[in-house]
Amino acid sequence: MEFSIRQAPADRVRSACVIVGVYEGGAMSPAAKLVDLAASGHLAKLVRAGDVKTRGGACTLLHGLAGVTAERVVVVGLGKDGDLTLKGFRDAVAGAVRAAAASAAREAMLFATEWNVTGCSAPERIRHAVAVAAESQYRFDQLKSKKDDDAPSLSRLILASADKPRAADAAALVQGESLAAGVALARDLGNLPSNICTPSYLAEQAVKLGREFHFKTTILDRKDTEKLGMGSYLSVTRGSAEPPKFIVMEYAGGPKKQQPVVLVGKGITFDTGGISIKPAGDMDEMKYDMSGAGSVLGTFRAIAGMKLGINVVGLIPACENMPSGTATKPGDIVTSMSGQTIEVLNTDAEGRLVLCDALTYAIRYQPAAVIDIATLTGACVIALGHVASGLYANRDELAQEVAAAGAAAWDRAWPMPLWDDYQEQIKSPFADIANIGGRPAGSVTAACFLSRFARDYPWAHLDIAGTAWKSGRDKGSTGRPVPLLTTFLMRRAAAA
Ligand code: BES
Ligand code: MN
Ligand code: ZN
Repeated sequence: MEFSIRQAPADRVRSACVIVGVYEGGAMSPAAKLVDLAASGHLAKLVRAGDVKTRGGACTLLHGLAGVTAERVVVVGLGKDGDLTLKGFRDAVAGAVRAAAASAAREAMLFATEWNVTGCSAPERIRHAVAVAAESQYRFDQLKSKKDDDAPSLSRLILASADKPRAADAAALVQGESLAAGVALARDLGNLPSNICTPSYLAEQAVKLGREFHFKTTILDRKDTEKLGMGSYLSVTRGSAEPPKFIVMEYAGGPKKQQPVVLVGKGITFDTGGISIKPAGDMDEMKYDMSGAGSVLGTFRAIAGMKLGINVVGLIPACENMPSGTATKPGDIVTSMSGQTIEVLNTDAEGRLVLCDALTYAIRYQPAAVIDIATLTGACVIALGHVASGLYANRDELAQEVAAAGAAAWDRAWPMPLWDDYQEQIKSPFADIANIGGRPAGSVTAACFLSRFARDYPWAHLDIAGTAWKSGRDKGSTGRPVPLLTTFLMRRAAAA
């Protein structure tokens, strides 16, 4: 979908569709007022009659409204005036865009930036409107031999307003578009099956992205990682015929001397569990086990697209977790790049095994902060469901900074404890550390495991097992936490 910003009168514009908002009780947004005036009060009459609903997110399509030049008017309910939350705003935009797309219109003018959203600046409203509109129109049909041509879609969305757009608005539009493209990339990579989205495929995508957006990409193969001593990472790929790829991306948008933020994404392109094999039901969803990696690639797409002034490094330990005659077996002891030895009691706790070596590799960048992103534990889904990502950090200020970025991006993460008491659970009688800590607090003990490899810098960990994809009827990747990460980096860039 194409986006633009334009100054326009809602009542007199030649458009296939204009979208205006009405509050509960009939109070109208400025654009709705113009439309109502031009239609001799017809809109207000429909609201009074109850034919146009004003409940938050409710949409009504009006066709050929007399006195109004647009062919269609979509009226979206905004709930109580003065009460529009960020979520309410996003739901209203998504609903209205879907309603417009369901009509025959291929283009719409959305008069949404004038809606007052609690605690949300005009540029923020533009970024959210673009991101949520794009998200609502996302489709993954590249592997269908026949595309569904009847599927409703809009090809152009114009963010319209009675006022002249400011410079900050134009910048916000580009930022929104870049974020949307980043989210779409993460969703595509997640939705691709593991026979296409292999470690090599992820590496190719990283190289391609680096070429297009001018950042450096280096792919370390098996030999390179052997030389680095990444025995933990390599223990996971042992059972697979797909070659492992350790992806390094270096985006240099900031001053040379600025310490980078390092993003580390779990890149298990399929997680069978290995010898500790998973049950068959829903195992297909383990193609999403590279969603952390997808979110790092998506975030690079977003920040490079908006030419963000900050240094960021992306690290993706990518491989497949398979059972075979060469696979790592329960009880095997491996040596990580840090030198710490690990007893692999369960080969299905493989995420932490690939991440720990990437966390050690990160030390060479003397990072300002490291954030790892991983579909790490089923236990996190039990703890937080599909609403919030689990958030852990070894510095409270960093946890707060990440949580605040998530709230502003409507891609929320919730703080979880990293107390030493939990470290007891991952003791091993035979090695420095065991890779599982039993059933209690499974998401916490996984984070505790990682913390032992992240002692040299401020570090945060996002467990996205519950938020990276949806199951059931709406099955598919969400692209989370690209909005959180992008917002975090935008705020860091602005502060620098
Ligand atoms: N990729 C899974 C975590 C997962 C499972 C995410 C289900 C989303 C849905 C991870 O590699 C895993 O298998 N974790 C185990 C750890 C356990 C063996 C300690 C888990 O959560 O069961
Ligand atoms: Mn696993
Ligand atoms: Zn996994």
